[in-house]
Amino acid sequence: MIAAVPKEVLPLETRVSATPSSVKELTKAGIIVQVEKDAGLNSYISDNDYKEAGAQIIESTSTLYTNADIILKVQSPKIEEISQFNPGAVSVSFMQTTRATNLVKAMVEKSVTGFSMHLIPRTTLAQKMDALSSQANIAGYKSVLVASGRIGKYMPLLMTAAGTIRPSKVLVLGAGVAGLQAIATAKRLGAQVEAFDVRPIVKEQVESLGAKFIEVEAAIEEGVGEGGYAKETSEDYKLKQQELIHNHIANADVVITTALIPGRPAPLLIPKSMVQDMRPGSVIMDLAAENGGNCELTKKDDIIESNQVIIDGTSNLPATMPIHASELYAKNVAAFLLYTFNDGALNLDLEDEIISGAMFTHQGIITHQPTQEALNQSKDS
Ligand code: NAI
Repeated sequence: MIAAVPKEVLPLETRVSATPSSVKELTKAGIIVQVEKDAGLNSYISDNDYKEAGAQIIESTSTLYTNADIILKVQSPKIEEISQFNPGAVSVSFMQTTRATNLVKAMVEKSVTGFSMHLIPRTTLAQKMDALSSQANIAGYKSVLVASGRIGKYMPLLMTAAGTIRPSKVLVLGAGVAGLQAIATAKRLGAQVEAFDVRPIVKEQVESLGAKFIEVEAAIEEGVGEGGYAKETSEDYKLKQQELIHNHIANADVVITTALIPGRPAPLLIPKSMVQDMRPGSVIMDLAAENGGNCELTKKDDIIESNQVIIDGTSNLPATMPIHASELYAKNVAAFLLYTFNDGALNLDLEDEIISGAMFTHQGIITHQPTQEALNQSKDS
């Protein structure tokens, strides 16, 4: 069984799907790991590091794919990559399958078994495979550091001989994995932190980090959907939510937005009119930029300024911390692969919640219902 680790092809993607430590784990289990030449360079891992861990270095991309039974990637493979996969190969990567329907189709045509790290169930058993969480944690942490470098202010309260400096105010919208890490990081830097989420259940977590939870009144479980994730809220709720955010955003120095609803465009929380009322010199870090952004003005992978407010739409913050991002992602991927591996072979037990949950294509069919529905819709439109 040969697992291939290609060099990521997307510009700005610095991560890699295996590290020397994960190579050791996989080879110990009997998997041959072949790494494309220079695949780890942007994560500061040399070919030699991989070799010493037991991997084989492959010079040409086409040879890598010709040899591979399993392809381990960070970003979803591009059409040109899928066309080089062996029929029946197994692909593991991040992939928003309800959006990338052209890639899903290409995998079906090649009978590729597709697994998306986005689809790993958020259960206790699958925690060590939860790449969404490991990478969102990094994004939340880094967003605060980037924002603190952009505001022309101190973050903490300071008593100096020249007078007292008031702490910066940070507002976090969406208190999931990224939001909670942003809160914790901003608190460590000494900022005054407020947070909002449609799921009232996170109030306790926000408060336990020392931040203030701001709430839409009378919103009893309005935004809570299946699996504890957020769901779309009513129009009345949305109006109240806008008013609440508007009142708090006007005083914020830093706004970190992380609000997402799985499989849907990111909810619009900060319309242009709200940006007009923000303080000059304040910063919005829009961590939902990949899915359209929580701020109306966000431009994906661009940093813009409007009314002296900086809006940062960097969509891949984990790639700005490749050493730890790759280390954790590689651990998540190796844990998943080893979970599916038994006695020297892949054991794709379709009754298993994690395996069937993460799978979206197998033996020429789409196995993930929402992906099938998205594909049907894309055909209709
Ligand atoms: P996410 O990235 O899908 O969303 C981020 C946050 O945005 C969520 O907290 C969501 O409630 C919030 N949000 C959505 N719409 C909003 C709006 N209009 N206004 C304000 N906030 C809004 O979520 P993430 O961070 O990937 O995970 C959150 C969920 O997953 C939680 O239920 C968490 O408990 C669960 N989880 C479970 C794990 C486990 O059991 N192993 C591991 C990680 C997360």
